[in-house]
Amino acid sequence: MRTLAIATGVVLVLAFGACVLMPERFAVNAPIRHMLFGQGIDAPTTEDFESRIRSIDGWSVALYADGLRNARMLRFTPGGHLLVSQPRKNRITLLEPDSDGDGMSDGRRLLLDGLNKPHGMDLYDGWLYIAETDAVVRIRFDGHTGQTEGLLERIVSGIPSGGNHWTRTLRFGPDGGMYVGVGSSCNVCEDGNARRATILRYQPDGSGEQIYASGLRNSVGFDWRPATGEFFATDNGRDLLGDDSPPCELNRIVEGGFYGWPYAIGHGDPDPDFGAGHEDDVKRSINPVHGFRAHNAPLGMVFLRGKSLPSGLRGAALVALHGSWNRTKKDGYKVVSLHWNEDGSIEERDFVTGFEVDEDVIGRPVDVAEGPDGAIYISDDFAGSIYRVSRDARASAPTAAPQAARQTPNPLAGIPPQQLRARSERGGRHYHELACANCHDAADADPGVVPVALTKLSARYTIDELAAFLATPTPPMPSVGLDEAGRRDLAVFLLQSRP
Ligand code: HEC
Repeated sequence: MRTLAIATGVVLVLAFGACVLMPERFAVNAPIRHMLFGQGIDAPTTEDFESRIRSIDGWSVALYADGLRNARMLRFTPGGHLLVSQPRKNRITLLEPDSDGDGMSDGRRLLLDGLNKPHGMDLYDGWLYIAETDAVVRIRFDGHTGQTEGLLERIVSGIPSGGNHWTRTLRFGPDGGMYVGVGSSCNVCEDGNARRATILRYQPDGSGEQIYASGLRNSVGFDWRPATGEFFATDNGRDLLGDDSPPCELNRIVEGGFYGWPYAIGHGDPDPDFGAGHEDDVKRSINPVHGFRAHNAPLGMVFLRGKSLPSGLRGAALVALHGSWNRTKKDGYKVVSLHWNEDGSIEERDFVTGFEVDEDVIGRPVDVAEGPDGAIYISDDFAGSIYRVSRDARASAPTAAPQAARQTPNPLAGIPPQQLRARSERGGRHYHELACANCHDAADADPGVVPVALTKLSARYTIDELAAFLATPTPPMPSVGLDEAGRRDLAVFLLQSRP
């Protein structure tokens, strides 16, 4: 078996000493302080936020929490706490919401300690799920108080661990499946373990493991696009092929899909080291739907779902670009937004920049989360900080007016009363048959389920918007198995019965 892993290690050691003499493909140009000492640096200062860290027009960036060494993945609870994984500290920290309005988290609590490199997290059905490097554990968790209860339960063990890509991402899909990203053990090699370089899928109790997609070198971020239900994942292209090759990837993940690694790079090109003799694998590999610049290292991603976002951002995805190490000139180190055009093409735009200026790095974005307050939160494992990107008071003022005005127009206005009654009745039958009340009405809630009250829907949704929500609900709500007409009837029923 050929492997470049050992060679890579040697090259790294050499290259630290002899960066200038090495050919470009071996360039090592990482934020050194961090790599050599494993230490973070101080969080950016107020001056940094004023002089170099920028978001798009109408948005500004500020520090939300600091002193969080190795802050990696983020997850909001329904109560507005922000969970932060710190795999190298073996812990999960809970950040209290900002109740006093000073723009920073009000405090923090060590939620779980002594885990084995915990990274990905998700909340599902009253549990907090955590992906350790070789296992999945879960614990009962009250999303409103932010308290755990009982003991940790290990529901999956023996996930292959070690090697280059040891972080595991975990996320529940709209189908109620638990998806776990398992990166490859090396930069490029024939891994010898079919579960590496994959996304695995499980039942929520950890049973039924399946290799859902393969040939993914290291997919750290994934999410489902609300408008269509499609599944997208980032992937980091391999190293040591020069400054500008190969592109990092956004892939549209399909069940059973093979995405090329280690045989193909970029858009179906054979890998120079492993492609030869594997023409069939190169041919069957699925091309990325978007290429990020080489070595940008896209990690966490999230589709924006907030109801109060400006139209330009709603439905877009944000992706954290951790930044290059294998490049003579640094690149990445920012958060970008991806926009789907009518023709299906994807456009990448800057969302937050300034962590790297003229080769000087003060931060490396890892994950992105959308807060219940409509702000965007970014983790940074270099400075050990969380940033909050929020709309300027100036910019949000004009939108406050139309939002308030939304209270008045009735989304059901203009439907003739008889038609309204018939549609609402049909919708009510769907509500009953699909047992929506099990999760939404206190009187009918399943034992152990904290019901989510459906209120004030007509102030926030039109029929179209509510039908679209039902097509791709926010997990853990399961998707609704109805056609478009059925979803619209159900929306009419909800808007009428829960105005
Ligand atoms: C397994 C539990 C579960 C079932 C079953 C379920 N839901 Fe939900 N639903 C949720 C959860 C949890 C949320 C909140 C998701 C979030 O965090 O935004 C939600 C959110 C919603 C919302 C958005 C509420 C808002 O205030 O914006 C609507 C509307 C809704 N559900 C309707 C339904 C309908 C209609 C059905 C039946 C077809 C249904 N749900 C079945 C769990 C469930």
